Amino acid sequence: MPVSALVGLQWGDEGKGKIADLLAEKADVVVRCQGGSNAGHTVVTDNGAFSLRLVPSGIFRENAVCVIGNGVVADPIHLAGELKSLEGAIPDPSGRLFISDRAHMVMPWHKALDILAEEHLGQKPIGTTRQGIAPAYMDKAKRSGFRWHHARNAGEFRKRVLIILAEMNIVINALGGTALPEKETVDALCGAVDSLRPYIADTVSLLHGHHRAGKRILLEGAQGTMLDIDFGTYPFVTSSNTTSGGCVTGSGLPPASIAEVHGILKSFTTRVGAGPFPTEAPDAAAALLRGAGTNRWDEFAAATGRPHRCGWLDLVAARHSARVNGVTRLHITKLDILSQFDELRIAVAYRMRGGETSDLPSDIRDLDRCEPVYETLPGWKKQLPACKSVAELPEAARNYVERIGEFLEADIATVSYGPGRGQTAFTA
Ligand code: IMO
Ligand code: MG
Repeated sequence: MPVSALVGLQWGDEGKGKIADLLAEKADVVVRCQGGSNAGHTVVTDNGAFSLRLVPSGIFRENAVCVIGNGVVADPIHLAGELKSLEGAIPDPSGRLFISDRAHMVMPWHKALDILAEEHLGQKPIGTTRQGIAPAYMDKAKRSGFRWHHARNAGEFRKRVLIILAEMNIVINALGGTALPEKETVDALCGAVDSLRPYIADTVSLLHGHHRAGKRILLEGAQGTMLDIDFGTYPFVTSSNTTSGGCVTGSGLPPASIAEVHGILKSFTTRVGAGPFPTEAPDAAAALLRGAGTNRWDEFAAATGRPHRCGWLDLVAARHSARVNGVTRLHITKLDILSQFDELRIAVAYRMRGGETSDLPSDIRDLDRCEPVYETLPGWKKQLPACKSVAELPEAARNYVERIGEFLEADIATVSYGPGRGQTAFTA
């Protein structure tokens, strides 16, 4: 059975949780492939809204096997807490949740170093989620990280943690931070690891077994393509490949096994954290896009609660994303938020260096200076109907999503007009 991948096409928070949950209904296995607890995938079930940070979105589907793949950097303390907070809301995860023995751990010192690095950037921080992501991937690349297989032997693990913690405390002190208390830190970390040890598995073997057995596998990407360390707005990115290529290296499934790449695109643009954002809207329009109130469909980061920066849809960025991922199925989310506008703007090119381009520049100085070239489309100015099919949407709404599909040269699979499972229109 072919494998499907799901990726974000913007700066994260595209609604991947909702679509992952939708696709998980027809998946036997759901795999998180990269990133860590910087993600916040919101899934709205009949029991309420949940923000998943490390646990794959398939966890709400009783029959789905859930895998935290080798490409993830997983914080044991966070993961133990997340599982605890889900108790009662999810079917028993034992025997169906697995953590790759090759995945790296985010350690307490990684979080401390992430915060110190941001503070050292002064007025120009990256705006990270402070989850220790970059320091954990730095240790991975430096070949000095802790992988989950290191936790199989509790005694050896504790011994090495004590040694590295002492070293890291010297670094933390030198950077002007406060050393982490030894006993508390080691006890919390080892306690979390003890509770998670039963989940550690050779997930490469496990996934290949499921693949050979014809099971349907969904690779759940996190973040978005514009946050990809190679293809995004470097250095205002995260520290992993958030693209479909990252789904391959982060799971151990071969590239040719992936038959469908689901690209998730919010019908406008948001970003949380610093960095270029050519179509960022002035305050009034941004406030409308951000939405008032407190429900989970609002533009406040699920992971950190920070308000999102909001703006018009940027199809230059989205097409770059669709290309590098090889998107075959497009899922457009949050169309309902646009119902309040008379006119809608979409950027189809950037004016820069005396010319126009519809390719995404690599240098953020160009992105900072460029002027978006907009197409203006009429709004529909009415509440979207509770429909099951895209054909039932008002004509102006249909035109809007069709223009997106045409520009990205990708087939539209679904259009979401609310956070609930039922608030989804399909093309077929
Ligand atoms: P999901 O999966 C939105 C952003 C941070 C920051 C940059 C680097 O929910 O879409 P990091 O903590 O990764 O070192 O921060 O990346 N970022 C996200 N923004 N959604 C996410 O995940 C994000 N994960 C990281 O805000 O700008
Ligand atoms: Mg999110």
